[in-house]
Amino acid sequence: MKILVTGFTGKVGYQVACYLQATNIPIVCAVRNPEKSKANFGDTYEYVSLDFSDVNTFDRALENVDRIFLMYPPGQNLQFDIFLYKAKEKGIKHITYLSLKDVQFMPFIHHYKMEKLIKSSKIPYTFVRAGYFMQNLNDFLCKEIRDSHRIFIPAGKGKTSFVDTRDLAEVSALSLIDEGKHINKTYVLTGGEALDFFDVAKIMTEVFKVKIEYTNPSVKEFKQYMRTIGEDEEFVNVVVGVHMPTKLGLAKGIRHDYEKVTGKKPTNIRKYIEDYKENWI
Ligand SMILES: NC(=O)c1ccc[n+]([C@@H]2O[C@H](COP(=O)([O-])OP(=O)(O)OC[C@H]3O[C@@H](n4cnc5c(N)ncnc54)[C@H](OP(=O)(O)O)[C@@H]3O)[C@@H](O)[C@H]2O)c1
Repeated sequence: MKILVTGFTGKVGYQVACYLQATNIPIVCAVRNPEKSKANFGDTYEYVSLDFSDVNTFDRALENVDRIFLMYPPGQNLQFDIFLYKAKEKGIKHITYLSLKDVQFMPFIHHYKMEKLIKSSKIPYTFVRAGYFMQNLNDFLCKEIRDSHRIFIPAGKGKTSFVDTRDLAEVSALSLIDEGKHINKTYVLTGGEALDFFDVAKIMTEVFKVKIEYTNPSVKEFKQYMRTIGEDEEFVNVVVGVHMPTKLGLAKGIRHDYEKVTGKKPTNIRKYIEDYKENWI
C-alpha cells in the first residue's frame, strides 16, 4: 500500500500526511514545488511533483501508488478528467475525495461535478463532505485576528458547523487504510455544535485573555476594506461566497459521521483554539 497525498501544503492534506506517517503507512506527498516543500517541511516526507493544471506531471505522480487522498485546489485549467483517466489506467484502488457539505444541493460547483466524475471513473471512492473548517481562522482570517483583534468576515449572525481539519484528516486516512470498510461511502463531517462568529470571538477572548471582537461587516464593507489592503478581487469574491451560506442561515446543520467512523466526539472549537493559540497571539 502506498498513498498519494495531494494538497500536502494545505490545511487538510498536511494533516492527512501527518496521520498516515504517524501510522507508518507509506505515503508520497504531491506538491507543485518539491524543493520548496523540502525546505519548509523537511525530508521526512517523500515528495513528487504534481500540478493539476499540467498533465505532464500526472504519470510520474501516479507511479507506485495505489490510493489517493484527492483535494480540489484553487486555480484555472485543472485537468481532473485526465488525472482520473490516468488513475484508472494505473489501477488506483481507492480515492478519498475532500468534498463539501450539502454539495448535493449545489450542482453549479466543482465538487458536485468532481463527485460525478469520480463515480463515473469506476474507481472505488469515499467522499468526505466537509463543513466549514476551524482552520480558516488561522489561515485567511488569521491576520485580522492577530493584528486587529477582530474576526473580519461578512458571515452575518448565522451559525456554522465548524469542523477541525484534523478530524477530516483522520476519517480520510482511515478510509484509505481500511478502504473495504469505507468503499463508495459518503461521510458528512461537522463539529458537534453550530456556532456563530460572536461565539467564536467570545471563546477566543477567554482563551487568549485578550478581547477579540466579531465586527460582522457587510459584504460591501468587507470588499471595500479588502480592496484597500490590496487583496486579490477573485479571492475576495471566493471568501464572500464561502460565508454566504452561513449568513443565510444554511450552514448550521450538524452530522454525526465522525463519531460513527471513529467512535469519538469531534474536536470542539475551544480545543482547536487552545491548540493553535500561538498563531494569533
Ligand atoms: N475552507 C473550508 O472551510 C472548506 C470547507 C469544505 C471544503 N473545502 C474544500 O477544501 C479544499 C481546500 O483544501 P485545503 O483548505 O486543505 O487547501 P488549502 O489550504 O487552500 O491549500 C491549497 C492546496 O492546493 C495546492 N495546489 C494549489 N494549486 C494546485 C495545482 N494546480 N495542482 C496541485 N495542487 C495545487 C496547494 O499547494 P501549493 O503548495 O503548490 O500551492 C495547497 O497544498 C477546496 O476544494 C475547498 O473547496 C474547504
